[in-house]
Amino acid sequence: MTAKKKPQVYITRKLPDAVETRMRELFDAELNIDDCPRSREELIAAMKTADVLVPTVTDRIDAGLIAEAGPQLKLIASFSNGTDHIDVDAAAKKGITVTNTPNVLTEDTADMTLALILAVNRRLAEGSRILTDKPGDWEGWSPTWMLGRRIWGKRIGIVGMGRIGSAVARRAKAFGLAIHYHNRKPVSPATEEELEATYWDSLDQMLARVDIVSINCPSTPATFHLLSARRLALLQPGSIIVNTARGDIIDEAAMVQLLRDGKIAGAGLDVYQNEPAVNPKLVKLAREGRVVLLPHMGSATIEGRIDMGDKVIINIRTYFDGHRPPNRVLPGRN
Ligand code: DGY
Repeated sequence: MTAKKKPQVYITRKLPDAVETRMRELFDAELNIDDCPRSREELIAAMKTADVLVPTVTDRIDAGLIAEAGPQLKLIASFSNGTDHIDVDAAAKKGITVTNTPNVLTEDTADMTLALILAVNRRLAEGSRILTDKPGDWEGWSPTWMLGRRIWGKRIGIVGMGRIGSAVARRAKAFGLAIHYHNRKPVSPATEEELEATYWDSLDQMLARVDIVSINCPSTPATFHLLSARRLALLQPGSIIVNTARGDIIDEAAMVQLLRDGKIAGAGLDVYQNEPAVNPKLVKLAREGRVVLLPHMGSATIEGRIDMGDKVIINIRTYFDGHRPPNRVLPGRN
């Protein structure tokens, strides 16, 4: 009996060692040990030979690229929760299945959301910089120095009450925040009761009434600039925005202007509209202590990354065993 041919799998970025080792055992895996982002030409070449492409959020798998795929490419098993970097409709039209890695980065991303809320309101980055950048400048404790804004008792407005939004809500409740949320539809009455959450059908009305806005919805054509200049102008002067979802959900230029004009109090951002480029005006605001900026590390835990790798492997194996992979992304959803 001849051994079954292993699927040829092209992985675009370096993955945790444990994941790469397993992939090498199971697949004819082409890894990216140097972690050098692949060019469009390299991706096209891979799509003409590999059975499976494993991209990440840094690869733009658009319709043009998918059009170049050879007939052997059966699966795009993304190493990501979000799939806004893949044209899922174009893939479906070409008969290519797309999968992602949901659930495993929910709690880590929610942790980072809370970390940013704390960092902005309690001036964590600024305080830390005082001791590291100018150690001699600290003259000791003072009753009126480095005052931030209290967290408990405030209202958080969560935009997108899916898995991550709900995980943020559970943490926020533990911190004494009142939970408000906007979603396509309300969560179940049991969840609403557990979180003591208030549903706002109107995003505009919610934005005008909360102290902290947390963006937790996916990036889709429908959520592009959901926080438009008009909506951002509804925010209260003392409010802050935290975004651990995707940069293009907020009109970034409009948000920067509000921050510069002092019309909102601050922002905690992990994602940007033109990633990896970061608007220099945001960097200036961060230096002034008005915003806290992180380099898209919301889900960056070693445990999370290994779990994501496991999901990619399960999706590939299930597909090549002739079954429907568990994390199939359906066309028309992004
Ligand atoms: C994802 O997987 O979508 C995340 O944004 C990566 O952290």
